[in-house]
Amino acid sequence: MTPSPDTFTVALIVGSVSQPSLNRRLADALAALAPDEGLELRDVPIGELPFFGAHMESKADYPEAGRVFKRAVDSADGLLLVTPEYNRSITGVLKNAIDWASRPEGESSFPGRPTAVIGASAGDISTAVAQNHLKAILMSQGAQVLGEPEAYIKYEDGLIDDEGQVTDASTREFLQEFLRSFRSLIERFA
Ligand SMILES: Cc1cc2nc3c(=O)[nH]c(=O)nc-3n(C[C@H](O)[C@H](O)[C@H](O)COP(=O)(O)O)c2cc1C
Repeated sequence: MTPSPDTFTVALIVGSVSQPSLNRRLADALAALAPDEGLELRDVPIGELPFFGAHMESKADYPEAGRVFKRAVDSADGLLLVTPEYNRSITGVLKNAIDWASRPEGESSFPGRPTAVIGASAGDISTAVAQNHLKAILMSQGAQVLGEPEAYIKYEDGLIDDEGQVTDASTREFLQEFLRSFRSLIERFA
């Protein structure tokens, strides 16, 4: 039996192109906490992907931008999506990236892939509705989605400082627990 590696790699997608972005801030904080939990988070940018259209999905001629993006997702052990909530759903830029990852037909990046979702907003229910939509999409694609803990981060000013440190101890511990649970999921399906 092959021993499991100490560190699993995770493709990290932030569903916001805003600058600044709360969810980028959260992603950076997670990336800083991850090594102690046996994970290495690797940023996969999505802002430059063209809008996906069915005419782009020829297997022989899949656009290079899509191939590069899919390679970054496929080469990691797990996938972490950090999502904002726009109008009670996910952002257009994130849905576009998911559509790219799901094609060409028969070559989806999702089936069996250990995948976790987290998100931040200043609203009282944070990104709960967006995450609900996102998890439904991921499950429809056959991803192995982390069920617990659910991670709806209610962002308040100063929660994560400019150096990416989580200033509130209970939030930091929660994020560490979230990463540990995700690592267990990856280990189970790796
Ligand atoms: C078009 C738009 C729609 C939004 N809809 C919601 C929403 O449904 N729920 C929510 O909690 N926040 C909503 N917000 C506020 C976002 O949570 C806030 O802009 C947040 O900073 C977005 O994350 P980001 O900074 O990582 O881009 C919305 C913002 C925009 C621009």
